[in-house]
Order: sequence, then structure tokens, then C-alpha cells
Amino acid sequence: MADTTGAFRHETARLVLRDWEDGDWDAFWRGINTPAVMRWLGGVADPAQRTAVRERLEGYRRDHGHTFWVVERREDAALLGFCGLKRSNQKGGPQGMMEVGWRLREDAWGQGYAKEAAAASLDLAFDRFGAAEVIALTVQGNTASWGLMKRLGMQRRADLDFDNADFDPDNPRIIAYAITQQGWQKAA
Ligand SMILES: CC(C)(COP(=O)(O)OP(=O)(O)OC[C@H]1O[C@@H](n2cnc3c(N)ncnc32)[C@H](O)[C@@H]1OP(=O)(O)O)[C@@H](O)C(=O)NCCC(=O)NCCS
Repeated sequence: MADTTGAFRHETARLVLRDWEDGDWDAFWRGINTPAVMRWLGGVADPAQRTAVRERLEGYRRDHGHTFWVVERREDAALLGFCGLKRSNQKGGPQGMMEVGWRLREDAWGQGYAKEAAAASLDLAFDRFGAAEVIALTVQGNTASWGLMKRLGMQRRADLDFDNADFDPDNPRIIAYAITQQGWQKAA
């Protein structure tokens, strides 16, 4: 049974991972809805797509007690994007596995924020949310995303790959990485 009591909040050295509040969404999309951020995510999102993202993320929180949380910078409370945990649910892919994901504003790239938020998410997956293994999914063109997977110590899992043309119509292959609790203990 998911713990939906009380707001989720988790601090790292420079960041806070926390539950969404109504006022977050405008700031989130102002920072995120650029061609560069959305390049491998189906392009700049229209209003219907933005509403669907909100409904999905709020649904994960409701159903599982975790979601892709708000990533906030502690020093100035700036909303940098999201990072966190969902259960894998892409059409054609593995279903119901613990999945880590991330999306940050362009001006927050290249400073290790994504790795810091992702590492905290992996800690939480194993320590608080009972995962034995966590996967991550992206397209082959998204080198920043699979580069982060590798930097976290995640291993390529070609057996979990599948096709979904929503993200990169030129190459619909979705590639998978994964890490077990033991692997994470060794990497961390
Ligand atoms: C994927 C994404 C989150 C990666 O962000 P990122 O900032 O590159 O990742 P990291 O946090 O690991 O930062 C790594 C970089 O920060 C640098 N860095 C600076 N200070 C650092 C620190 N204190 N700790 C670690 N790295 C640091 C590293 O050297 C590295 O730089 P490089 O890329 O020039 O080699 C980002 O590119 C993004 O939001 N993309 C758009 C959304 C998206 O596609 N999401 C994934 C969908 S599957």
C-alpha cells in the first residue's frame, strides 16, 4: 500500500526532492518546455500534453507513494526540473519495474545536479520503496541521459529494449539500463 500521508521531502547536499504543489507547474514548464530539453521527449509540449504529464506524475504519487519529484535547488529554491521514481509503463516495454527518470532546465545542466538527484532517487528506491532493481530507459540519441545511467554505474540491459516511436521517430529503439541493490551498494 503506497504511503500517501504527509508530503514527501528529501534533501541532498545541494537539492531538495519533493512532492509537487499546484504552483510548481507553470515554473516547471517555463524552464523545461524548450526545444533542447524536449529534443528526445517528443518535442515542445502543447497544453494537452502538459496536462497529461501532470496527471501521470500525480497519479504515480497517488498509486505508488513516489513519482518524478520536483528538483529544487536549496540555495535559492529555484525549480530545476524533476527526478525520481515511477513504475515502468511504456507501451511495448517492461511493465511495473522501478524506473528512475530525470529532466532538468538547460541552465542546470553540466553541474552534476542530475547525478546528485538520481543518486538520491536510487538510495530511496532501495532503502525506502523496496526495489530490488531499478531500470532507466532512453533513446540511443540521448547521450546525456544514457551517459548519466553509465556514470551511476547502471549496466546495459539489451534484453529489456523495445520499440516506441514517440521519442525519436528516426530510431524508435528504446534502450534499457539497470542496477540492482547490490550493484548500487558497490557503486555508491
Ligand atoms: C539528461 C540530463 C538530466 C543530464 O544532465 P547533466 O547535467 O548532463 O548530468 P549530470 O548531473 O550528471 O552532470 C554531468 C556534467 O556536470 C559536470 N559537473 C560539474 N560539477 C559537477 C559535480 N559537482 N558533480 C558531478 N558532475 C559535475 C560533469 O563534469 C558533467 O559535465 P559534462 O557533461 O560536460 O561531462 C539533462 O541533459 C536533461 O535534462 N536532458 C533533457 C531531458 C531528458 O532528455 N531527460 C531524459 C529522458 S530519458
